[in-house]
Amino acid sequence: MTSVFAPDLLQDRVILITGGGTGLGRAMGERFLELGAKVAIASRREPVLRAAADEMMAASGGDVFPIACDVRDPEAVDRMVDAVWTHFGGVDALVNNAAGNIAAPTEKLSHRAVDSVLGIVLHGSFYCTLALGKRWLADGRGGRVLSIVTTYAEGGSAYVVPSAAAKAGVLAMTRSLAVEWGPRGITCNAIAPGPFPTKGAWDRLLPDPSLMESAIDRIPVRRAGEPIELANLAAFLLSDAGAYINGDCITIDGGEKLKGGGQFSWMGSLTEEQWGALEASARGATKADRGSAAKQAGAPRGAGSSR
Ligand code: HXC
Ligand code: NAP
Repeated sequence: MTSVFAPDLLQDRVILITGGGTGLGRAMGERFLELGAKVAIASRREPVLRAAADEMMAASGGDVFPIACDVRDPEAVDRMVDAVWTHFGGVDALVNNAAGNIAAPTEKLSHRAVDSVLGIVLHGSFYCTLALGKRWLADGRGGRVLSIVTTYAEGGSAYVVPSAAAKAGVLAMTRSLAVEWGPRGITCNAIAPGPFPTKGAWDRLLPDPSLMESAIDRIPVRRAGEPIELANLAAFLLSDAGAYINGDCITIDGGEKLKGGGQFSWMGSLTEEQWGALEASARGATKADRGSAAKQAGAPRGAGSSR
């Protein structure tokens, strides 16, 4: 894909990405590095982070700081943010990308399963945002928070209920802090992705190829997203060009959310014959209505009246 960005779009910006060693987090990190940023990646599995950092640095020649951290632990988050701040001499932006998800009938979930997802997504995003927000405010410097939510953060979704509740909370945090911290130079935005085939999400949520096919069927543009497409959107939002966007949530889903919401969207599966029958029936109904109206107009006064 041809780059639409100047190669120094994010020159020397320091961007901390939670969950930055895999999937979409890593794709964003790679793109930010290509655009001149310095990147810290934080998640639980140190070997995964180290391997990712080595590969990302080799590919870009840029600076990647990997640091192990479970975002469910607020003290660990503080230590992690301190370490990144010290390593780079400050942080300019945070991407709340770490997530956990369990697809299951909700009544089958234990309270530990619920806590696990809420802890990673809602508490983790909150702790990271607070840890950086406090430092930015104390220093009188601005900052950017970008949270990766989902299209179902707005309307909820059956079978991924802890994730839906947690992402809705992250969206509420985003919109609330945009207003509270905006006057002090901190903007908060979110991206709501539709399906992007990453190992972390697909192995857990859509492992069967037939499930994948039906997921693609629901997307008007008939394909899943490419990680680079999301990474480019994130780069724009964190760049100077995105500075006036605050408190918004940008959907990137090929139209999937709108299709699900449209009451007649299912009609995309009708055959030519079925469309023909529908048209004939609709035109017939119109003709019949006009015929009866004409008859009534020509009828003697009082005809058709119940009086
Ligand atoms: C029911 C489950 C379960 C499952 C785990 N549990 N998986 N219950 N169905 N499939 C239960 C466990 O039995 C345990 O409860 C509790 O959840 C915690 O499980 P652990 O494995 O101990 O938790 P932990 O090691 O913290 O792992 C967290 C996780 C795991 C969320 C369960 O999946 C994970 O590490 N995920 C990170 C990556 C990820 O999920 N990526 C996808 C993001 S996609 P008990 O009671 O037995 O102790 C996304 C949006 C996708 O967010 C949208 C697509 C369009
Ligand atoms: P992924 O590769 O599984 O990413 C999740 C990341 O979160 C992993 O790197 C994981 O690393 C990290 N993580 C999980 N628990 C953590 C914890 N307790 N502390 C710190 N880090 C933790 O999946 P992905 O598809 O790239 O998802 C990235 C983001 O996009 C998520 O916010 C997800 O909700 C969102 N999203 C994805 C899709 C999609 O279709 N892929 C759609 C909508 C939204 P460790 O295991 O090393 O901790």
